[in-house]
Amino acid sequence: MTSNQTTPATELIYRPRRLRRTPTLRRMVQETHLTANDLIYPVFVMEGEGQKVEIASMPGCYRYTLDLLLKEIADAAALGVNAVALFPVISSGKKDDTGSESYNEEGLVQQTVKAIKKAIPDIVVITDVALDPFTTHGHDGVVDDNGVILNDPTVEILVKMALSQAAAGADMVAPSDMMDGRVGAIRKALDAAGYFDVGILAYSAKYASAYYGPFRDALDSAPKFGDKKTYQMDAANAREALKEVALDIAEGADIVMVKPALAYLDIICQVKAATNLPVAAYNVSGEYAMIKAAAQQGWIDEKKVILETLTSMKRAGADLILTYFAKEVALMLR
Ligand code: PBG
Repeated sequence: MTSNQTTPATELIYRPRRLRRTPTLRRMVQETHLTANDLIYPVFVMEGEGQKVEIASMPGCYRYTLDLLLKEIADAAALGVNAVALFPVISSGKKDDTGSESYNEEGLVQQTVKAIKKAIPDIVVITDVALDPFTTHGHDGVVDDNGVILNDPTVEILVKMALSQAAAGADMVAPSDMMDGRVGAIRKALDAAGYFDVGILAYSAKYASAYYGPFRDALDSAPKFGDKKTYQMDAANAREALKEVALDIAEGADIVMVKPALAYLDIICQVKAATNLPVAAYNVSGEYAMIKAAAQQGWIDEKKVILETLTSMKRAGADLILTYFAKEVALMLR
């Protein structure tokens, strides 16, 4: 190495730039590595055959009928994605006040899980446990006459839902509803029914976030009245996230999750320090939409921004990232 300066400008001993000088050196000291193993691909399934419909506020993301979804998942698996998180689009005729379609043994989710496990047995199938895709009012729970979301009656339905998903072959159930005590109730019921090996990915610190807008478009599940602030968390709170995480761990969660991810990197970091369980982060629909929109305008370099964003989540402490970019990223990382 030849020096480009004959006389040092300063008396510096430490020059951090030494380790950034070449790509090889930078690779040697890289602290965080994003790999396809980190990715969980959330997918939307709808009834019917031979159709895929792009979600307007999530360009590049589709609702698929089962036949086309199987192809999409097989493609993702071939790129090294290990797991999918399944969300159903329920036709309005099947929705009711209490979301009873959610535990129909022959429902869309249950049939889809069976078909995925048959066609692509190795892929880990994670099912969503929450009532909002199934209720006429779009809330994640049972609502009384005064518009109050009832906790314990909701948990009873969530338990039936989780059991029907386990019966269909789900590897993991993922309660995203934020009712109190649901992780414990689901664990107990799964064990009593012999589903010891079905895991629980708990949406432990799930915030009442405006970043969910595009997802609610995708499922047509926006709440018809009020908001979700009596069950989802206040964006201003961090210690409360640790309380929620501690409860879910005590109740038997296998993986804890922080959601959304990007505006909550501090929470991911704190949760990681508080537990030895794997920590997941959900790079939600609004985070996806922001990147897609800016990229479509030509204002940012999409690929670089995606990789930087997901790397920041890993750096914060996420072991797993649910992201609509999963397939794209797996391809980029090849
Ligand atoms: C609801 C649920 C939501 C998301 C996943 N499960 C939305 C909500 O709470 O209203 C959002 C995911 C996303 O925005 O990507 N149980």
